Amino acid sequence: MNALRADATPDVGWRQKHLLDVDVLSLAEIQLVMRTTDAMKEVLGRPISKVPALRGTNVTILFYEASTRTRVSFEVAAKNLSADVVNIAASSSSVTKGESLVDTIRTIEALGADMIVMRHGTSGAPYLAAEVFSGSILNGGDGWHAHPSQALLDLYTMRAHLGDVRGKKVVILGDVLHSRVARSNVWSLTAAGADLWICGPTTILRGFDAWAGRWSGGGAPGHAGFTVTSDIDAALRDADVVMALRLQRERMDAGLLPSLREYAARFGLTRERLALAKPTALVMHPGPMNEGVEIAPDVAIIDRSVITEQVTNGVAVRMALLYLLAGGHPEAVTNA
Ligand code: CP
Repeated sequence: MNALRADATPDVGWRQKHLLDVDVLSLAEIQLVMRTTDAMKEVLGRPISKVPALRGTNVTILFYEASTRTRVSFEVAAKNLSADVVNIAASSSSVTKGESLVDTIRTIEALGADMIVMRHGTSGAPYLAAEVFSGSILNGGDGWHAHPSQALLDLYTMRAHLGDVRGKKVVILGDVLHSRVARSNVWSLTAAGADLWICGPTTILRGFDAWAGRWSGGGAPGHAGFTVTSDIDAALRDADVVMALRLQRERMDAGLLPSLREYAARFGLTRERLALAKPTALVMHPGPMNEGVEIAPDVAIIDRSVITEQVTNGVAVRMALLYLLAGGHPEAVTNA
């Protein structure tokens, strides 16, 4: 596909053809993504932040759901690596005429795609795509299931401030039931050894308590803890990181919450609540935010907020993922 692919060192520790979720990544692979992202940050700091690593590679971005951060940052990332990029919005494609996902993927392959970045409202859709596509599928978010590049950029951002996250108290607060971000973060944060707390109303913690119970019997190597609770004070006390999640009104069945106002009053991240966390605690949110619901507007822009930094880091992390999937090696980036 390109010179770097041909020169790639075989023993890079990266074993994946696709990026469908972080659950299949070893800790060594996650660390390789972090290291490769460091190399991409160095590239992005150059006067001309472009390298030829993916020259001649066709990257198609196929989104069936709305997106700002993921879609744009994958496009910027692919262009920074000199890939040829095609954008397809399902709403303006032959999907509207009844074309199936499988037919769409086969058509995109026939048009020359080497990699497809896709977002789909149905959990598991990228796995089906991976069965019929001969290149690499990168999951940009599927239903409630997974959002691997978001989890990896979240981990990268935490490490940039905290160093090793091992033993650090990380709280994910909000609508975890409908959150692919939360599900992918569980895998990467437990693999990295964080003391993970999941907090929200009992009605939207369904499934996470069983997951935590299973993990407490052994779990991912090195993980410090996995607690699921509706006790927001206990969750926030002495936290190193607080990640608020969007209340996903478009996915919400009626009856899970009494009202938005009550949700904001009981689980919104306010300055008063944040005062329970460590004074240095990072404030994170994957976006898009409902300010005044899951996070107060003044907390979103507090000096410890790294929300815009998450967005910026998304470009470097996605460059790293595209590069590794194309067979690249982090040491080769700086020579590119
Ligand atoms: N975090 C995230 O997935 O944002 P977008 O929906 O804007 O891509």
